[in-house]
Amino acid sequence: MLEFSAQATTDCLGTLGWLPVGRSVASVAIAGAGNMNLVERVTLDDGSTLILKRAHGWVEKYPHIPAPIERAGVEAAFYRAVADTAAGKAMPKHLNFDENAAANLFEDLGEGRDGMTAYTGQQINDDVLDAIADWMRTLHNLPTTSDSLLANPAMRALNAIHIFDYPLDPDNGFDLDAITPGLRGAADALKQDGIFVAAVKGVGQRYLGNETGVLLHGDLYPGSWLTTEAGIFVIDPEFCWIGPREWDVGVLIAHLRLSGQPKESKERLIKRYGAILDHKLLHQIVGIEIMRRLIGVAQLPLTIGLEEKAMLLAEARALVLGTAE
Ligand SMILES: Nc1ncnc2c1ncn2[C@@H]1O[C@H](COP(=O)(O)OP(=O)(O)OP(=O)(O)O)[C@@H](O)[C@H]1O
Ligand SMILES: [Mg+2]
Repeated sequence: MLEFSAQATTDCLGTLGWLPVGRSVASVAIAGAGNMNLVERVTLDDGSTLILKRAHGWVEKYPHIPAPIERAGVEAAFYRAVADTAAGKAMPKHLNFDENAAANLFEDLGEGRDGMTAYTGQQINDDVLDAIADWMRTLHNLPTTSDSLLANPAMRALNAIHIFDYPLDPDNGFDLDAITPGLRGAADALKQDGIFVAAVKGVGQRYLGNETGVLLHGDLYPGSWLTTEAGIFVIDPEFCWIGPREWDVGVLIAHLRLSGQPKESKERLIKRYGAILDHKLLHQIVGIEIMRRLIGVAQLPLTIGLEEKAMLLAEARALVLGTAE
């Protein structure tokens, strides 16, 4: 007998016609450490597995926070856009999408393989870095898309709050001292820095605008890739959008810094990626991502203390204002 929630998952797969013929569900488990969606690993009676990712109109882990349910369709559109390209080959096979159920079905790439160990001292090795740089280049070089879903305004609006607004809101009430004693003071200094705040808001306006650009993953950090024997695979493009290539490159560089990777890894990434970059914008994006990951709600499993966080915040400020060496 399956437990209640596993039965509900089985019913969902059955209703959608996604159970392979003659197969039944043996067990269901949460696939990994996600927040936004209900992502389950479904094991069938022959031992094979599938990943079922379902969106609700809220953040799965924080049901009181609304989130656009269209994100499931956006994710499906992204997989459609990269199907039959080298970028698509370095993502799990997208097996099915159903709009009414806001559900996507994927090939299972195996357990416990995401890049989050980078924050707890593991180096991101050159093979991984090169694979991600190659993936980005291929993605960003795809011909312009005509699928308007990929502009993803609803998810951008949600993300913009967490990147550009909330972290710098003096009244956000977020208890930073509970994360790292003293962090609140460092954050308050930034919040009161009008020139810094204005520069961040300026990039935020650009993020919400409708410039022409390339198809971006939108959230390319170590939680968005899985390492398997068959290579590196990118997942979770629900924050994709059309914008400047510096976005993906900058977010990734910020996470190289936040996870304490050696300096050369940034140079390696930029060189391998190869395209010409607007370095002013790139630095601003790096600085903003560092800032929002340190003092916003989307915290990382960092092991560094106040001194290092304060140093990183100063660096973030210099990057945003263009005063970094
Ligand atoms: N195709 C897959 N194969 C193996 N594991 C997967 C696959 N897709 C997702 N996972 C696992 O499930 C976790 C959550 O998946 P995903 O990142 O797509 O969900 P999410 O709800 O969008 O997460 P987040 O809140 O971080 O945005 C991943 O970190 C990974 O561990
Ligand atoms: Mg996600």
